[in-house]
Amino acid sequence: MAPSFDDGNSLFNFVVRDGNGVKGMVDSGLSTVPQAYMQPPIERIDKDRARKHGQPPIDLSKLGGPEHEEVAKQIVRASESLGFFQVVNHGVPVDLLESLKDTAHDFFSLPAEKKAVYRADVSPTPLVKYGTSFVPQKEKALEWKDYISMQYTNDAEALQNWPEEIRDVSLEYLRTSMSMVRNLLQVLLENLGVKPEDSMIDVLVDKKMVNMNYYPTCPNPDFTVGVGRHSDMGTLTILLQDGIGGLYVKIEEDSEFGKKGEWVEIPPVPSALVINVGDMIQVLSNGKYKSAEHRVRTTSTKSRVSIPVFTMPNATAKIAPLPEVVEKDGNALYKEFILADYMKNFFSNAHDGKKSLDFAKN
Ligand code: OGA
Ligand code: NI
Repeated sequence: MAPSFDDGNSLFNFVVRDGNGVKGMVDSGLSTVPQAYMQPPIERIDKDRARKHGQPPIDLSKLGGPEHEEVAKQIVRASESLGFFQVVNHGVPVDLLESLKDTAHDFFSLPAEKKAVYRADVSPTPLVKYGTSFVPQKEKALEWKDYISMQYTNDAEALQNWPEEIRDVSLEYLRTSMSMVRNLLQVLLENLGVKPEDSMIDVLVDKKMVNMNYYPTCPNPDFTVGVGRHSDMGTLTILLQDGIGGLYVKIEEDSEFGKKGEWVEIPPVPSALVINVGDMIQVLSNGKYKSAEHRVRTTSTKSRVSIPVFTMPNATAKIAPLPEVVEKDGNALYKEFILADYMKNFFSNAHDGKKSLDFAKN
């Protein structure tokens, strides 16, 4: 029996503590947005005012060919200004993309008990976590999203510990996307004047995580957010979104993509993947590449899924702006830190735009 969602405590217990998620709340028959999900006006997303990002996806099959330089330039330009771009011919089979979206819908349609076994405090494995919102204990308004997160250590542990319903497609996604990630990093590092050896790229993508995000239909999308303003903390994120739309990025600097401070929508493009620059790349590049501030709107008609792969260095890694870049720039914008300390700060605060980077500022 679903509780009254007008009462903050019983809502929290039902949605967060007992693992019913936003999905469970919506399925119980909801006609209005509960108070706990009402965003302050400043965080609400005005759909009608946002422009669509018109940049065509970058064709990665041209890397290494006669048009390599032009394609590399497109990657660099997007990473310097927006921190977001889309790619096609990325090496991940298109039918796998379809299976991933179907599998995510199937998984979140499972009864709550099946998913709730992976709640952080009871999960049988530290590699898998099912949850809702971002840091529900810390948030003034909750995010309209449920998710499952799977850390990758090696194939054997993934096969043994990841939920079997979503394990194989997720692993295949990771396998088929990593060479693209390495190629993109190669381009970004070369442009900084660093001759990237494979070992350096290994460090940058040492840790990997596949998430499945589920955004149930919402009675009033104007009052809620699917994910609040944030940047991703790691190296590069690969994101598969479905056809529904609602992913917005903030323009950090006046550029060919628009005016500083403006939000643009990254429109769904069939068979494309979205790439976004994470905080670690902003730090390593001494601010030259921008981690992208982004957020997600909800919809009233259909549930949305997205499936990101996050890459990052190992928790024990020391991170600092690359010496080659600092030497050129004359000063380091960021200090050296241990990744674990950065992560601890990132995951213990509610989403708040790019405030996460303050931790590393000199
Ligand atoms: C994220 C994220 C965007 C989306 O999971 O970090 O920003 O479209 N997701 O779901
Ligand atoms: Ni994100």
